[in-house]
Amino acid sequence: MPEPSDSLPQRPYVVVCRGPHCRENGGLPLRQRLVELLADDATVGLAGYACFGQCDEGPNVAFFPDGDWYGHLDDRDAAARVARHALGGPPPGDALRLPDEERTLHLRNMAELIQTLDADRARAARRRSGGRGRGDGSTVENPGLRAFAMKCNQLRQRLQRFLLPDQRRTRE
Ligand code: FES
Repeated sequence: MPEPSDSLPQRPYVVVCRGPHCRENGGLPLRQRLVELLADDATVGLAGYACFGQCDEGPNVAFFPDGDWYGHLDDRDAAARVARHALGGPPPGDALRLPDEERTLHLRNMAELIQTLDADRARAARRRSGGRGRGDGSTVENPGLRAFAMKCNQLRQRLQRFLLPDQRRTRE
């Protein structure tokens, strides 16, 4: 199992508990509001988590990789405070102190979860760009895309041959 420090994401994450107790206490609207607040901010990621084992304190949020937990985030402004804290603002509420063993376990789980999310997003971005641009200066070979590019090139050449006589005529 990787250590949290072995797999640090490229950006910090707000990790919201999606467990039943947190949900009952307002976790769902908190998460929905955070989606709205952080949707346009590429510097902070947002992820859901099964349960931090701090159910009586919910709704709970963790900040990764900092490893800080906050609870009782059930008021109207909680999401705004969480978003501000993710961007360097003050703590959003009551800090939770998890037992060391549980804290380490959750940090490892979050590291794996976020690694998977980031890999999925990178794959989706590569698909959207047609399999090109891995972000490391290299290019992914995509036979389908290559065939499509060749067809486009042939069509462009045919169009040029077809259009060029007209263009010459209009210039004359
Ligand atoms: S349900 Fe949220 S910590 Fe357990």
